[in-house]
Amino acid sequence: MISILQGKKIVLGVTGGIAAYKAVELLRLLVTGGAQVQVVMTRSAQEFVTPLTFQALSGNPVHLGLFGPDADPLEHISLAQEVDALVVAPATANCIGKLAAGIGDDLLTTLILAATRPILICPAMNVRMYENPVVQENLERLRQRGLAVMPPDMGEMACGAYGSGRLPEPAAIVETLAGLLSPKDFQGYHLLVSAGPTHEDLDPVRFITNRSTGKMGYALARMARRRGAKVCLVSGPSSLAAPLGVERLMVRTALEMQQVLLERFPRTDALLMAAAVSDYRPASFAAGKIKRGSAEMMVNLTHNPDILESLGALRTRQVMVGFAAETDDIQAHAQQKLERKKLDMIVANDVSAPDSGFAVDTNQVTLLHRSGVVEALPLLSKDEVADAVLDRVATLLADVPK
Ligand code: C5P
Repeated sequence: MISILQGKKIVLGVTGGIAAYKAVELLRLLVTGGAQVQVVMTRSAQEFVTPLTFQALSGNPVHLGLFGPDADPLEHISLAQEVDALVVAPATANCIGKLAAGIGDDLLTTLILAATRPILICPAMNVRMYENPVVQENLERLRQRGLAVMPPDMGEMACGAYGSGRLPEPAAIVETLAGLLSPKDFQGYHLLVSAGPTHEDLDPVRFITNRSTGKMGYALARMARRRGAKVCLVSGPSSLAAPLGVERLMVRTALEMQQVLLERFPRTDALLMAAAVSDYRPASFAAGKIKRGSAEMMVNLTHNPDILESLGALRTRQVMVGFAAETDDIQAHAQQKLERKKLDMIVANDVSAPDSGFAVDTNQVTLLHRSGVVEALPLLSKDEVADAVLDRVATLLADVPK
């Protein structure tokens, strides 16, 4: 699923905090994402979780120390040279203090001293320890030296206290790591992404909608963020979690979506309009719940504005990409929309195919460019489709004066 991890060599450093058990789940996610993980445990980490658990899940022996009969005295150098990234989760106050002071008294700290690749530190400790100025100063020193520090989660802690200091969810750590490994070709760009369906109200309890879940738009927002963009995601109703580091604005109706997009559009470098906006809404809204009657019921619908067309009129420098969900004559219909909406590119897909379109994690799309170029992509995960779309957007942005 997280293709950026495929084949990547990752060192997972585990230090001795109660959250060490969560590092097991983190390891699972890294391995299922295709990473080759070497686990390094400090002595106190081994008091919380056995090395055997990490060994079984990583498929590699766990690295435990600098010395001892089985230790390779130069292991810290060889591991440091081989890796693509290092993540320390959980990172205790003790480990953070040692790293800030440049101390290397065990395998993990010496390895980090020798490393030249991205390092992600995930602090986890009691709230009072975390808020202690010396810990905060140490974290600041690490940030200033170019290490990435993930803010801990807020919540109830193992010791019963409440506050900041919980290890973030493993999926969020993986997402942050994926960001560190991604090229930063969208640094300095603002992207506006729309996603999901709209709800068009009939009465206080009923609405008209469609089968969009938001998966494609959320994938675009997440991948653009990984690649360094500042992303605003305007989302219709969706059960998906907001991607890490993305500003998400929730809307319900097409008119609300239009209003938010109109407001954000002038500050945007590229608009990716993946939302399945309802073309119609009920002509009138019944203030009270419509009662069941014996006669047939008619619902009059009125046109919603075409948001892309309305934004097109305000366009100055913005790259504009639309999406076309089709069930027949896909390319011809998408071509008409590309021209009518004056887009740079349209992403067409067959929503009647079982592994494409709504609710699934894969998509088979055809990219139609304003230049006339047509690219049919193979069946890919939505993350991969998002990356492919962003590759084209990056090329289009490079041609626009900033
Ligand atoms: O015409 P159609 O709805 O198929 O066009 C799809 C593209 O237009 C999508 O990018 C969609 O987000 C956008 N759209 C819009 N406003 C509408 C309907 C669709 O911007 N009212």
